[in-house]
Amino acid sequence: VPLILLGLGNVGRALLSRIRAGRAHHRKRYGLEFAIEAVSDSSGAVRLGNRPPANDELDAILRHKEAGRSLAEAREFEGPIELEELVRQLCRPGCIVVDCTASCETVWILREALARGGSIVLANKKPLTQEQEIYAELTAWPGRCRWETTVASNLPVISVLNRIVATGDEVHRIMGTVSGTLGFVMFGLQEGRNFSELVREAFESGATEPDPREDLGGMDVARKALILARGLGWQLELSNVQVQGLIPSSCREISVDTFLGSAESLDEQYQNLVEAALARGATLRYVVTIEDASCRVGVEEVALQSPLGRLKGNDNLVQIHSSIFSPTPLILQGRGSGVEATASGILSDILELVLASARSSLVRSRI
Ligand SMILES: NC(=O)c1ccc[n+]([C@@H]2O[C@H](COP(=O)([O-])OP(=O)(O)OC[C@H]3O[C@@H](n4cnc5c(N)ncnc54)[C@H](OP(=O)(O)O)[C@@H]3O)[C@@H](O)[C@H]2O)c1
Repeated sequence: VPLILLGLGNVGRALLSRIRAGRAHHRKRYGLEFAIEAVSDSSGAVRLGNRPPANDELDAILRHKEAGRSLAEAREFEGPIELEELVRQLCRPGCIVVDCTASCETVWILREALARGGSIVLANKKPLTQEQEIYAELTAWPGRCRWETTVASNLPVISVLNRIVATGDEVHRIMGTVSGTLGFVMFGLQEGRNFSELVREAFESGATEPDPREDLGGMDVARKALILARGLGWQLELSNVQVQGLIPSSCREISVDTFLGSAESLDEQYQNLVEAALARGATLRYVVTIEDASCRVGVEEVALQSPLGRLKGNDNLVQIHSSIFSPTPLILQGRGSGVEATASGILSDILELVLASARSSLVRSRI
């Protein structure tokens, strides 16, 4: 299975390691092997050849990136090559482009991959939260596009929603928490910890976006909400999502370091809010609500004994209320964010594409 991997940050590297570790299993169980033909970072791309690269070669790339170096500096591989050129050379039916960047610049690569008959897997939310037409274009071929990890890491929310929507069952409401990072912050507040301390810990452990204000300002969750709403067939833009952030907008005007250093000024405010909620038998969660043609994200008080109130740590939970799932909603709950969980979800997406394509080839050959 030819793969082109865009992005070798935390998630991209974890995916490479997972592919490497799962080689024997995939060969034995499915008779397949991944040929990682090219990898890229923000400095360019390198080509690895159209055979499964040796473990040594993958290890060398991982070591190179873990040392904080760019692919443009990697002398031992063929490259750097312009990504545009590389995609034209390599993309063909059966080839899968995996987007593990956090950039909207990959849209044209994903389009090009589809135009050349390839498939795409996204962990990156940004291409799917550009204008509605781009979302429609990228997701037009369900058998050639998967984006499961964009919303709740490895929790299969998109697959389940697609199944429900496909039957014509009407979804009235989606509600839940879809950010492991904000789940960690909100649960930590409930346990009496300081807001600033929780934010720093999430940032230093790599759980936040490279700029933690993307998470804390609510934009990361707003993108997830938009992807969910678009999955229901709603036509809307990111600007239509109502966003209530955890930090004031003035925090966006300073550097990340200055922001982290000044976050203590918010500690007392959050301590008071949480204490007041606990006194009412409630707690705070950062919640996505999609209902009545509106989509909003923000802090909400929920009963301690409700499914959202009982969440712990960075766990995610999504409730889907539909005509069939009524009065009891369908609930998906599990471990929230995490690089390893996300890499595993991306690999599941890749395998689903490959196995679905193999099944349809088999059916065609029998006809
Ligand atoms: N972390 C999680 O738990 C999690 C969960 C679900 C989804 N995601 C999503 O997964 C994506 C990756 O997250 P991450 O934590 O791995 O981010 P990251 O560590 O910042 O890595 C991003 C990678 O993308 C590369 N890149 C940036 N612009 C590029 C471009 N135009 N072309 C090619 N490569 C480019 C970067 O290059 P350099 O190495 O040169 O900087 C880097 O290797 C994000 O979209 C994130 O929202 C993450």
